Amino acid sequence: MKLKIVVTAGDGIGPEVTGEAVAVLQEVAAQGGHEFTFAEKRIGGVAIVQDGTPLPKDTLDAALAADAVLLGAVGGNEFNSMDPSKRPEAGLLAIRAALGGFANLRPAFAFKELTVNSPLKAEIVEGADILFVRELLGGLYFGKPRAWDKAKGEAWNTMRYTRDEVVRVARIAFKLAEKRRKKLTSVDKSNVLEVSQMWRATVSEVAAEFPEVTLEHQLVDSMAMHIMNRPRDFDVVVTENLFGDVLTDESAVITGSLGMLPSATIGGKVNLYEPVHGSAPDIAGKGLANPLGAILTVALILRHSAGMETEAAAIESAVRKVLEEGFRTPDLVRGNKQGLTVLSTKEMGAKVRETVKGLLIAIA
Ligand code: NAD
Ligand code: IPM
Ligand code: MN
Repeated sequence: MKLKIVVTAGDGIGPEVTGEAVAVLQEVAAQGGHEFTFAEKRIGGVAIVQDGTPLPKDTLDAALAADAVLLGAVGGNEFNSMDPSKRPEAGLLAIRAALGGFANLRPAFAFKELTVNSPLKAEIVEGADILFVRELLGGLYFGKPRAWDKAKGEAWNTMRYTRDEVVRVARIAFKLAEKRRKKLTSVDKSNVLEVSQMWRATVSEVAAEFPEVTLEHQLVDSMAMHIMNRPRDFDVVVTENLFGDVLTDESAVITGSLGMLPSATIGGKVNLYEPVHGSAPDIAGKGLANPLGAILTVALILRHSAGMETEAAAIESAVRKVLEEGFRTPDLVRGNKQGLTVLSTKEMGAKVRETVKGLLIAIA
């Protein structure tokens, strides 16, 4: 298999975690004789500093010509006072829009070994396995008009969706639910917002195409609570952009750490793969970052952009095995450290790599 991957590592812990994730893919390539090529391109704060823009043309051109794009994270405290349209995050939104993927799949899976790491009781999180489908190209993030009129002391953003935008993301969510536990929860704020009323009505219409899937609707405020109280009750959850942003960070509590969450954005010209977490300026450059979210993200590249299910599953099994053997990054330790070995970002990457190699040799 040949795969051309553009790596936009970005800022903060982005380069640290993508470095380990790329090394895992290189191991998969070496074991199977695959030809994976990696082109490193700038995005975010590092691109603002070096190129004067958060998304240089060279990066965008390469991304559009790639089989998959792996993004680390963007953002840094030094850019926080900038106009939103010039910030590192604007580069991320621009590459998302250009690549066209509108369905951002964010699985939140509670690895058994990490249930003690969740602040929730183990009996509540054990077995939780939710697949969030976050609409990624609409809503408040992209709706116009948007502005901050400083003279007037007024600012506004627009939550806007077209019916077609809801239909296409709903179809993806239903299809995914068909292949899983056949339950879809659609999350909105239809008791207040017209956009959400359209969202709910449209998702209900699409449901007729998927008679095997049970659809339920939830309001986003109570959903935030249900996810914590009874995470096992949810299978696929589809929601609009901002609600999905917030609920998926919340779902990190189920998995034990934000550093565990991968994502894949599908449906456009080129799929975009990014861990859910950000640039984590508080721990950047210290070797403390958990690379497992990024490593699970490259498993999604193999699954969704290469049809390499065996290898994708091998990476996921390797992560599970490393956790079973007691290896942890510092974010994965809460309370009792007995029996655990705390590793740096690089050491954790190496452990997974070595384990993936062993698993691939065993099944060859
Ligand atoms: P964050 O996700 O960067 O960090 C939140 C907390 O989780 C921090 O305490 C951090 O140390 C911890 N954390 C995150 N990832 C971790 C990992 N892999 N291992 C261990 N701990 C981890 O969110 P934030 O602090 O709200 O935002 C920081 C910057 O990141 C902001 O500029 C924000 O815009 C940006 N951001 C970027 C992306 C992205 O590029 N995809 C996503 C979210 C936030
Ligand atoms: C995420 C991030 C981004 C988002 C930011 C950095 C633009 O929080 O990927 O979850 O809000 O989509
Ligand atoms: Mn987010």
